[in-house]
Amino acid sequence: MTEPDTIFKLSDLRRTYTVGSEQVNALDGVDLTIEDREFIAVIGSSGSGKSTLMHLLGFMDSPTAGRMEFEGKDVTRINGAARADLRASRIGFVFQSFNLLPRLSVLDNVLLPLTYSRSRVANQLELGMAALERVGMEHRYAHTPSQLSGGERQRVAIARALINQPRLILADEPTGNLDSKNRGRIMELFASLLEEGITLALVTHDHEVAGYAGRRIRMQDGKIVEDSKA
Ligand SMILES: Nc1ncnc2c1ncn2[C@@H]1O[C@H](COP(=O)(O)OP(=O)(O)O)[C@@H](O)[C@H]1O
Ligand SMILES: [Mg+2]
Repeated sequence: MTEPDTIFKLSDLRRTYTVGSEQVNALDGVDLTIEDREFIAVIGSSGSGKSTLMHLLGFMDSPTAGRMEFEGKDVTRINGAARADLRASRIGFVFQSFNLLPRLSVLDNVLLPLTYSRSRVANQLELGMAALERVGMEHRYAHTPSQLSGGERQRVAIARALINQPRLILADEPTGNLDSKNRGRIMELFASLLEEGITLALVTHDHEVAGYAGRRIRMQDGKIVEDSKA
């Protein structure tokens, strides 16, 4: 199966929030193309629209105006079910605060996205353990999140993002809660995923982390003000 080289094409994309009588242009006309196997760092000050952009790319939110193409198809106005389907099957998401469910084991957390996807997976446990192996956490499969360090939790969250074999991983400040040693480990892990053919877009405040990326996008007031290749 060959896939189109262009993953996303955003044209004049806008997302406006209405709060009381005020309008916030969180994204104010963004043009962006994401190609296969790119590693993009999204930087910019707090409130510049980075998370809003990630939520749109992750099909967790819909735009107010503009156009959004995913793998050559117009997805600007797809319905909630189609959105959920793409989110579950094509994209992995990693958050700053890990977002693991505290009562579930490491393995059950990793398997959770399979519950939401429409296709039934027969060999779930094997897939879950394989994902944990990719991040070096298979020996902790029976632990609960509270029994892990921050760096270990983030590795489990990355295994969860990998379970549906996504083409693209979106990470919103994935190293924001980690010390420098764990930051380095997580970045090495992302670099190895890139080598396996996954495309990455990650938001970061950290110049060292941004240094791993081949392309850097700076946001300001809902706009892309810089887009440079390393
Ligand atoms: N759910 C929301 N409702 C209203 N305003 C929001 C919401 N989410 C974000 N905003 C506003 O949109 C702007 C961009 O936010 P965000 O994308 O979270 O920025 P960043 O991730 O770069 O810090 C900010 O001014 C923020 O206050
Ligand atoms: Mg943010």
